[in-house]
Amino acid sequence: MIAVIPAAGIGQRMEASLPKQYLQCAGETLLDHSIAAILAEPRISKIFLALHENDHWFANSRFADHEQIQVVQGGASRAESVVNALSAAINTFPSDTLVAVHDAARPGLPLKLFSELLDVVNENPEQGALLALPVHDTVKYSTEKEAAANGGLTQTKDAGIGRNIVNKTLVRDHIWLAQTPQVFRLGDLQKALSLAAEQGNDITDEASAMETLGAQPILVPGSKKLLKVTTPDDLALIEFYLTTEQN
Ligand code: C5P
Repeated sequence: MIAVIPAAGIGQRMEASLPKQYLQCAGETLLDHSIAAILAEPRISKIFLALHENDHWFANSRFADHEQIQVVQGGASRAESVVNALSAAINTFPSDTLVAVHDAARPGLPLKLFSELLDVVNENPEQGALLALPVHDTVKYSTEKEAAANGGLTQTKDAGIGRNIVNKTLVRDHIWLAQTPQVFRLGDLQKALSLAAEQGNDITDEASAMETLGAQPILVPGSKKLLKVTTPDDLALIEFYLTTEQN
């Protein structure tokens, strides 16, 4: 088994002076926490780490010269960064190798959960699996905004005027928030992401690409600790998770 860590983002929403994966939290960078969490699982033999072409921070990492890490150049999107890493991996690993893709910005991966996930995929390699969080809030679906002064409803992503209105309430028992790691066979995932890119789909995780090939990935219950750091508020929370008891 191998891993891919896409870490080539610039973290615009953090409004920080450096990409979010290099922010310090509980004694080290988010990226170093994520790498350590993946390497803690002995079944992972290698990590393909996608970095931005202008990255000059990883050289300072305690993992900079780690023999199990191969750096590849990231792409313009998360999906592109993953595809670049998979292209490097397929040169040295057979296409049925299981690959765990994990966001650099999710530093709180408990080893127990990662191991459970790998156990599930080992049993079901053609389906693959991902960690995901069941939803406890009531979920509203909204594609429209209320009528603006000039009349008529507008699509949410359009004009940016008016307040969102509820189209319907979803059955929350059916809703899961996708986390990472997400684990699939190397060849399958490469094919799925390439197809999604050809079709121009906006792919934000591996499972959705696999779904377009007809796969039905297994949802393994994840953890709040796997929060993806996106905005400044998240840092304090993740620091709390990282400094309290690990499981
Ligand atoms: O921006 P977002 O939080 O969705 O990014 C998720 C992960 O994908 C982060 O670890 C980020 O560094 C990575 N990423 C990447 N290449 C990009 C954009 C994001 O590797 N072009």
